[in-house]
Amino acid sequence: MDKIRIIGGAPLQGTIPISGAKNAALPLMCASLLTDETLHLSNMPYLADIVTMANLLAQHGVALSFSPQAKGRSMSLAAANVHNLTAPYELVRTMRASVLVLGPLLARFGAAKVSLPGGCAIGARPIDMHLKALADMGAQIDLRDGYIHAKVAGRLKGAAIQFEKVSVGATENLLMAASLAEGVTVIGNAAREPEVCDLAHCLQKMGARIEGIGTGEIRVTGVDTLHGCDYAVIADRIETGTFAAAAAITGGDVELLGARADLMQATIAAFAEAGVEISETPRGLRVCRDGRISGTDIMTQPYPGFPTDMQAQMMALLSLADGASMVTETIFENRYMHVPELMRMGTKIVLHGASAMIRGVPELRGAEVMATDLRASVSLVIAALAAKGETIIHRIYHLDRGYERLEEKLAGCGANIERITSRQSVKVEAA
Ligand code: EPZ
Repeated sequence: MDKIRIIGGAPLQGTIPISGAKNAALPLMCASLLTDETLHLSNMPYLADIVTMANLLAQHGVALSFSPQAKGRSMSLAAANVHNLTAPYELVRTMRASVLVLGPLLARFGAAKVSLPGGCAIGARPIDMHLKALADMGAQIDLRDGYIHAKVAGRLKGAAIQFEKVSVGATENLLMAASLAEGVTVIGNAAREPEVCDLAHCLQKMGARIEGIGTGEIRVTGVDTLHGCDYAVIADRIETGTFAAAAAITGGDVELLGARADLMQATIAAFAEAGVEISETPRGLRVCRDGRISGTDIMTQPYPGFPTDMQAQMMALLSLADGASMVTETIFENRYMHVPELMRMGTKIVLHGASAMIRGVPELRGAEVMATDLRASVSLVIAALAAKGETIIHRIYHLDRGYERLEEKLAGCGANIERITSRQSVKVEAA
């Protein structure tokens, strides 16, 4: 398996292009199932998860073309000949977002057989709210043999849905299902993440009738058919925050091209409290830190609060702060897998249930560490960029799921970072 080798200490200087948002691109790809016309997506990121989703949709019968190297990074998807309504375990277990085919398949074809996703490193991540809401719309849902067997006689019916907690995926599944349902669906306690809004805006362009986008109550009036459209994926606010943390921890000065401040106000506020200045430029956002990092308190919340997907990255930055910080994770029950690995690099972190107390240290030291999940992995990269000496990060396939050309983008700003492919490592060891 590939590894990443980093020699820390170089302040990042220069520019980094921000890719399209993974967590917007994945549901947008699933929206192609709602029409027999072609959906053209641009500003698509080129990531392992995108390829997995493309393979899943292709086995349903969606005709896809993806030109990741071409200008605009466009992907075309046409679900005119869907012949298979099953999402198999071997694909769903590698990417939980596969469950987002459930709503569209039910809405357009009246049936779907989707593998239960199973748990993952950061938590149990059930999908009970997806299933209950679809049942409220008239779907018959049976769980057996590890699969969701869903069907509806005729069309899904509009309903008043009230989620007991905010769920990005459940909101997205229901937005797609309700777009083709008969009648009006009101989604209460809906997720407001920019990626959810991106899906809703694309559905509107496809002919869906949606009101209340970006609020906690979304109203969808079902239509009989949807058509294709061209849609550009929004910038990835989590990739932006990740590279901002990398620039900040190294005391660098980096411009993030295509980044959008309006998608990440809570993140920018948290960086400001930590002594990191993020300012808007005509091309995106500039991140620089010339003073000390200050300790601050972070609590993850649904949007517009501080995003859980930035928690691990912020923890790496705060490990070098003057003073103490308290981080509280309210969304997932096990999203501290990065802590033991960061501690191997000299951080001082104590976990108390959902909270982590971080005492800033004057320096970190490179070590061999292991990636466990996507955002935990990148927090190790961030720490390694500032650590003294060499860090080797194992199992970096986690990184490739959500970060495009990470080592290239960082090396382009002066980081001493390289990917060691499994062949190379044998050669190095042999020598
Ligand atoms: C999305 O996951 C993102 N993934 C996650 O990003 C992100 O961390 C999460 O939203 C929260 O913002 C994609 O968009 C592909 P949820 P999702 O449903 O939809 C519980 C990354 O690093 N819940 O909003 O699966 C759930 O267990 C990934 O890019 C239920 O209990 O998250 C969690 O505690 C990681 N029942 C909370 O709600 C349900 O039916 C929020 O989960 C659904 C969710």
